[in-house]
Amino acid sequence: MVSVSFVVRSWDIFMSTGQVEEIKEKLDVVEYVGRFVALKKSGRNFKGLCPFHQEKSPSFVVSPDRQIWHCFGTCGVGGDVISFLMKWENLTFYEALRELAELVGVKLDDAPYDDALWQRKELLYSINNLALKYYSYLLHKTSFGKEAREYLVNRGTNEKIMKTFELGYAPASWDSLLKFLQKKGHTTENIIATGLAISGRGGSAYDRFRHRLMFPLKDAKGNVVGFSGRLLDSKKKEAKYVNTPETEIYHKRENLFGINLTKDEIRKAENVYVVEGEFDLITPYQHGISNVVAIKGAAFTDEQLAVLKRYTKRLTLALDMDEAGVEAMKRGIKSAEKQDFEIYVAQFTHGKDPDESVTLNAIQFKKDLKNAVPIYDFLIADIQRTYPEKNSFQKKKIGDDLMPFIRDITNPIVQSHYVKHIAGLLEVSESSVYRLMRSSGKQAFTKKKVVSSPESVYSRLELVQRFFLSYLLQQTDLGEEVHESCTVLSPEDFTIPSFAHVFEKYQDLVHKTSTFEYTSFARALPPETQSVADELFMFNAISPDGEKPDLLKSAYEIKMHHVQKEMDTLMQRENVEDEVKLSALSKEYTELRKKLKQSSLEKFTQS
Ligand code: CTP
Ligand code: MN
Repeated sequence: MVSVSFVVRSWDIFMSTGQVEEIKEKLDVVEYVGRFVALKKSGRNFKGLCPFHQEKSPSFVVSPDRQIWHCFGTCGVGGDVISFLMKWENLTFYEALRELAELVGVKLDDAPYDDALWQRKELLYSINNLALKYYSYLLHKTSFGKEAREYLVNRGTNEKIMKTFELGYAPASWDSLLKFLQKKGHTTENIIATGLAISGRGGSAYDRFRHRLMFPLKDAKGNVVGFSGRLLDSKKKEAKYVNTPETEIYHKRENLFGINLTKDEIRKAENVYVVEGEFDLITPYQHGISNVVAIKGAAFTDEQLAVLKRYTKRLTLALDMDEAGVEAMKRGIKSAEKQDFEIYVAQFTHGKDPDESVTLNAIQFKKDLKNAVPIYDFLIADIQRTYPEKNSFQKKKIGDDLMPFIRDITNPIVQSHYVKHIAGLLEVSESSVYRLMRSSGKQAFTKKKVVSSPESVYSRLELVQRFFLSYLLQQTDLGEEVHESCTVLSPEDFTIPSFAHVFEKYQDLVHKTSTFEYTSFARALPPETQSVADELFMFNAISPDGEKPDLLKSAYEIKMHHVQKEMDTLMQRENVEDEVKLSALSKEYTELRKKLKQSSLEKFTQS
């Protein structure tokens, strides 16, 4: 079914729009969105690949005239500069507004704002913040923290790093944090909501983290979203690390330990080292390597990649060199390739993980990082180690194991580089490698199917109507073609009521004038119609090369479809009185077909 999505205007939830408007006036949506998405001019608008879903051809459009954006692909969403940032950084309205206000130097009033979600998140952050202070105080200032302090010193962690990462100590007690937070005025319910306490029997609760070294987990902005706690006594049979569970503010899949402290360095270095654990981050950091994030042992997720993409396009995996680490890398390649990252792999001469390696030999460790190789070189070397003999069967295995990765390389130059490399390695021709690649998966060399092209989202009829109205709205000088089209069609010819509304308003205007200015036209529309018009106005940007369709021909096609539908209805009724009407319609239809044929351009009927 056809669905028309409306442009979200984020300030609708705001009582006073004064400051919001001020901020928006100081920002250009094309310039701002262009910082995150590569945009290309297309007619009056700009287009690019939608950052909110995977696609191969651009269906993301930004309008400088209207200062809005819209995705015509599977997302179908759009909005202004504020809602863009909300979606990009997963922020509430107020958070996004605050960030933009800071950017353009507008001081926000502490005026009452209506953002319950933001207030809720702020409350949970503040509870976590108190816990951070509490744990940190115990580590540094009390005898309870002695064991944890000694543990850190034994691992070589210095005082400065403890402070930088705001490490702490959770005491060996069932409720001391809980009591502390309650004394600060927080309800047990809210404390449980942060994950710091676990609900027990009969409405009671107890501390989740007990007798552990504590790491605050922060998001890129520095909000404390959760904690992880490391066991101090290795003889104990408990989990080595205990983490905050999924909460309203902690989402394991998008968390990257350290990012709040390392994001600027990552951007500067145009590279991020991805490590597994907390210590794999803080120990190298102490040795001056500060463009690092830790994925905390789990698989590298698409969400984490999306966060990193804001800072760099290159990532260097510095994971543990065990089997699990290699498997994690292989899994990560596909997602990273999809998101267009350049992936490198670093291998350490000493130790099993970066923490050990840098401690054992910092100079060598830094060399190892510098010597990181493209992930495909690493894979090839790894597979060669698995099949060291060079007989025909082993060669086949090498080929089979490599193909799934080589096949999915999106860049043809990179891909052919490896085809050549593998051919040389196996001492076979390049064409047999290509053949193997083709047979190894359907995807190989067939152009990847566009998951969400506008063509697959809209029916042909809707597409014609959309393009027609879109081009109509682009015109500034209204020539004969426009007037003629507006005579051929009437609002009822449009199958979507909101399109009919837009056309009706347009017709009213066109009859009175010979020039047209979209922005003032849009402003005069009622809000619901306005968002549809905006969407239509931007729609033509996604057509290949911004080609202009034959307006008149499209008008005929739309009209013919309507006439056809009317005839179908009449024929179904089988009413004698309809005969006259039916023959008139049939005549009209034939007439339209003739006119359509006469039109020279064939663009729209090609499918
Ligand atoms: N991890 C976790 N929960 C566990 C075990 C591990 O969340 N029960 C995460 C931690 O972030 C840990 C990472 O996975 O740092 C990697 O685990 P592992 O290699 O077992 O530990 P190390 O990183 O070597 O930890 P440490 O150096 O403290 O021994
Ligand atoms: Mn370790």
